[in-house]
This record gives sequence, C-alpha cells and structure tokens, in this order.
Amino acid sequence: MTDKQKKSGKLWGGRFAEQTAASVEAFTESISYDWRLYRHDILGSKAHARMLAKQGMINDDELTSIIQGLDEIEKEITEGSFQFRPELEDIHMNIEKVLTDKIGAAGEKLHTARSRNDQVALDIRLFLRDESKMLDHLLQEVQRSFIYQARTCLGAVMPGYTHLQRAQPVLLSHHLLAYYEMFGRDRERLADCAKRINVMPLGSAALAGTGLPIDREFVALELDFPAISANSMDTTADRDFALEFLFCLTTIQLHLSRMAEELVLWSSKEFEFINIGDKYCTGSSIMPQKKNPDIPELIRGKAGRVTGSLVSLLMTVKGLPLTYNRDLQEDKEQIFDALDTVKASLSITAELLANSSFNTKQMRAATYGGFMTATDIADYLVKKNMPFRQAHSVVGGIVAHCQQRNIELTELTLQELQGFSQLIKEDIFDVLSVQGSVNSRLSQGGTAEKRVTEALQRAEQQLEIVQ
Ligand code: ARG
Repeated sequence: MTDKQKKSGKLWGGRFAEQTAASVEAFTESISYDWRLYRHDILGSKAHARMLAKQGMINDDELTSIIQGLDEIEKEITEGSFQFRPELEDIHMNIEKVLTDKIGAAGEKLHTARSRNDQVALDIRLFLRDESKMLDHLLQEVQRSFIYQARTCLGAVMPGYTHLQRAQPVLLSHHLLAYYEMFGRDRERLADCAKRINVMPLGSAALAGTGLPIDREFVALELDFPAISANSMDTTADRDFALEFLFCLTTIQLHLSRMAEELVLWSSKEFEFINIGDKYCTGSSIMPQKKNPDIPELIRGKAGRVTGSLVSLLMTVKGLPLTYNRDLQEDKEQIFDALDTVKASLSITAELLANSSFNTKQMRAATYGGFMTATDIADYLVKKNMPFRQAHSVVGGIVAHCQQRNIELTELTLQELQGFSQLIKEDIFDVLSVQGSVNSRLSQGGTAEKRVTEALQRAEQQLEIVQ
C-alpha cells in the first residue's frame, strides 16, 4: 500500500486526502450481500491471473502465489473464518485486499487490465449460469410430481372450468399435465436466457477496453464461455441478462401461484378435491378444527415479491446513461431474493404434491351438475349436418327447459329431447355421459383418455421416467 492508500484505508485511495465518512461506507457497501458471489469471483480471478501469466504480465511464481492465496481465501470464506470488512465495500475488494495481505506484491498485480465493472459482470454471469442449472433441476422435480399424480389418477374425471364455472368434463390427468407444460416452457425460457448469460465480459475493463495485451478468448475458454462480448461499453452497462433472468423467475412464480390458488380452492370444504397431507398444513391458534393450506397461500403470496424484484431492477436500469453507474449495484439483492424465493417455492411444491391425494370420487360427483355435456349435444347435431349456431340455440333451449324443471340433461327422455330436434336419436345418451364426452375429445391436445395417455407417455419419455 502507498502512503495515500494507507491514509484513506482504500485500495482506490491514492487521490483522496480524507477518510471516507462512516455513513458513506455504510450506505455504499454491498459486501453484506454480494459475499455470495465469492466462489465465482475467485473462479474469475484465477482465470484472469492465468491469462496475465500467459501474456507475460505476471510471472509463474506470481501466478502460483495468486492461485494459492485465492484457494486459501475460498476455504476461509466457506468455513466461515474470513473477516468481511464493510469499509472495503464489496466482495471484489475484500478478496483482493486479503490476497495482497497474504502474498504481497503479486496480489497487487491481479487487478491488471481489469475493472470491477467488468469483474462484477463476470461474477453475476457465472453465478446465474450455475443457478440456471439448479433451477432447471428443481423445475424438473416439480414436473415429475405432476407426472406421478397424472399417472396415478389416469382415467379420473373432473369438471373443467372457465370463469371458475363448470364448463366441460375433463380428465384430472389432463389438468395436471397442463402444469407439466407450463413448467416445461419455464425450462425452455431459462435455457434460452442462459445463452445470453453465457457471454464472457472480462477484458471490457472500466468501459473502453484496455491497452494492455490481454487475451479474452483464452479467459473465455478457461471459464467455458462459448462467446465473448462485442462492445466494452455495452458490456459494462448491460444488465439485460439479469432482467431476463428475473422475468424467467417471475413467470415460474406466477405459474406456481396459479397452481397454489387451485390447491387452496380444491382443499376447501366447498370443493374437497384434494387432501393435502397433515405434515404440509398448519392449524389455527383459536379454531381447533382448522387445517389450513398455508404453503400454497405463501407460494401465491410470494409471487408479489418476485414480481417486485423484476420491476425494481427494470426501474433501476431505466434512464441509466452508458456505461457503469453505481445504481447497478442494486441488481444483486433483487436477483438473490427472487432466486431464493423461487427455489424454496419449487422445492416445497414438489414435496407438497408428493404428499397430497386427489379425491377422485368427489371430482366425479362434481361433473354431474351444471349441464357440462351441453356442447356435446351441439356437436352431435353438427355431426347430423345442423349448422353450429342453430345447434347452439337448440341446446340452449334444452338447458333452459332442464333448469325450469330442475333436472339434469341425463334425466331427459328421448321423446323430450326429440321435441327440440328430430335429428336426435337413441345414440344421444352415449354423448350425454361424462365418460363419453371426455373420450370424444380426440383432437390433438384434447382430453380424451387416448390423447392424455399419449401426452403422459411423451412426458415420461422426456424426463426418462421408466414405467
Ligand atoms: N459493488 C459494485 C457493484 O456491485 C462493483 C462495481 C463497482 N464499480 C465501481 N466503479 N464502483 O456493482
């Protein structure tokens, strides 16, 4: 350290005559949360040091002591014996300072041809690259839980809803596999986002690149990046990849929230479609009879929080001039919080589903009221050449007639039905049954058992589940 650096106590203190105010240190520090990047910071520094050695900017002994020093620091942080110092601002300077204390002058060479502006971009990209893989794994686990339940309940019927009104009968497995698809899209979206995360920023330096003879391709190869970033100014200013990642997280949490809403509804006395295991419910401090679906409620509630993180970073980036601005330090808490929330929600969802059972009897019973096979009668008439709009109107009349008499469609006699259209024959009763209705929906992606069985097999193949 030079005398000036000693006086200010900062690695950047050369031009400062006074010590930073304590309030400023407290306001600007990020070490209280960005310590979580330490593994990736060290990984990036090692690759950078190897490049400096290859390019002749440090010698082999210096490289060896940098690598050893960084290994020690990584071990100390992992074991919890490392002293983080808020006055050193962030993870990058905490590590560099301790490295220099440990190994002397070689440590001071590590930051050659590098800025914290490209360093922090590298750290976040490395971190998110790993986290995308973790998320993919968790999403797969949730998909497996849905497949398991869909396989177990195959054949069970339930009301399908639009506007939360009984609409048409469907297979429960069809409903469950809808979630399989949603989480499948989340996995695709993440994999696509990972392509833009997976670009190597180091070598952009503060904003303009460097005059020192670096080799960016070498660093990219060391860190397994398929590409390097194209423009140093864009690179140090860019957080699009973090925004995209937060959008992926938000969509996952919204999907979980929609599922959670159904679990809350379905576990109510009004529906009684699902029984969530005791271990996964909580009680009331006053009402002894209560068994509450707090887990899905919290999952639903946390959708607000994750969405908030996305909106927060969107607003942080809005209006920032190129290139790096300290505002960008605000990215990390949003990323960490959203990530922790989504990971916890996914893993508890997988557990919850595995510990729940569907009340298929109750679901079948619910398919009886509500004229849910009305569309099937209209389709029956269409097959007999009646234009659809006419058929719609005829069946509307049948429904109104049933409502007046307070009976269901299945209770009508053939004569009564023929009173509405002479095209109706004895075979109408196949169409009126719930099973008949479900199994008639053979269109691709439809709810007929044949189609759902195919969909289930496809899902099982995709996740390599052996039946
Ligand atoms: N802690 C900072 C961040 O998270 C690192 C980059 C700081 N760069 C700077 N020039 N102050 O964004």
